[in-house]
Amino acid sequence: PEGELATARAAAAYEIVSVNEFQVLARQALPKMYYDFYAGGAEDEHTLKKNVQEFQRIILQPRVLVDVSNIAMSTNILGYTISAPIMIAPTAMHKLAHPEGELATARAAAEFDTIMILSFSASSSVEEVAASCDAVRFFQLYVLKRRDIAVNLVQRAEKSGYKAIVLTADRPRRGRKEADIKNKMNLPQLKNLEGLMSIEVFSVSEILKWALSLYELLQDKGSNTKPYTNEIFDSSFCWRDIAWLKSITNLPILIKGILTREDGKIKVSSDDVFVTPFSIVLLATKAMEVGAAGIIVSNHGGRQLDYTPATISVLEEVVQAVGRKVPVLLDGGVRRGTDVFKALALGAQAVLVGRPVIYGLAAKGEAGVRKVMHMLKDELELTMALAGCPTLKDISRSHELDG
Ligand code: FNR
Repeated sequence: PEGELATARAAAAYEIVSVNEFQVLARQALPKMYYDFYAGGAEDEHTLKKNVQEFQRIILQPRVLVDVSNIAMSTNILGYTISAPIMIAPTAMHKLAHPEGELATARAAAEFDTIMILSFSASSSVEEVAASCDAVRFFQLYVLKRRDIAVNLVQRAEKSGYKAIVLTADRPRRGRKEADIKNKMNLPQLKNLEGLMSIEVFSVSEILKWALSLYELLQDKGSNTKPYTNEIFDSSFCWRDIAWLKSITNLPILIKGILTREDGKIKVSSDDVFVTPFSIVLLATKAMEVGAAGIIVSNHGGRQLDYTPATISVLEEVVQAVGRKVPVLLDGGVRRGTDVFKALALGAQAVLVGRPVIYGLAAKGEAGVRKVMHMLKDELELTMALAGCPTLKDISRSHELDG
């Protein structure tokens, strides 16, 4: 009898009760180099930490004696209904976390009934992911100097049923992640990179060339200051080029990486949309002017420019600039259902999660991703009940006090 009790106690001890616990499991499961690659941020990791801390500063103000016997969490993003306002952010190379990689993540997205944004730097092709599940998928794009690669990928995404393009705008160059430099972060053997970055439609020499580029993309090139990746990314891509992107696809385009309404130095009018040098500044208003179908308030999970604001701190400003014209989504630091609630209260239509998904994947594959998503949803459901908000529309600014 004591044996059974001991087993039960051990099982109870291993009951995973929060998203953060998956981070601990992921750390145990992964080689240090890969764990650091996923978990780390740029330079002092100030923004990485702030993304979480600024959520924690917000205090909730519940309403009581509200009928919360039914809580409704499903919402609609660009015409697609999802079971809860929690989506999967684009993150690179899921096969470093788990052999089934993006396919496991996509199956979990389908089961959870949410939208998965497939990364441009995925370790499975757009077609493979499309075939593996019927989740609604968006495709995230970086624009390389080789524009034909963008054209090819966007057209293939369109053909295999992806519903939108997410243009990530905050990575004209790679941020400086010091852990990766110290670890001499690199990818596994080239032979294991088959299919990487969805470029297998190109000739074998092209595959090797680009696989090699990606291989080197994550490698410290010695000086640390000019990684190879900067040579393949088109750092001249700016607001003007969104017209080009629109010309190559019929899909709606969301812009990811917006952190402000405007930079305050320039007057925003239709004339100055395309001027440089300020046109690289990310402005919600400009995004509207170039016809973005949605905006993702994001600082790339603190992996690009350090000392940018926590996303939750600037969300309200962006929402006000955009009005209700297009959906505003947020990512960065979402680890609790209460965080989702806080973002919705400040006007986000949904949030995206990046690292939590990877930690779930690394710890327990598809089941881990499912568990992460369901934990966040269950926590959101409980938060809505305890705060007196039976529907998403009931969640408002008045449910928050500034911390
Ligand atoms: C990312 N992110 C990212 N974004 C993007 O547009 N394309 C990409 O390929 C990647 N790759 C990537 C890899 C890893 C390991 C991480 C952690 C992040 C950024 C991602 O989409 C998202 O903005 C953040 O992950 C959100 O922050 P949290 O949820 O990780 O705190």
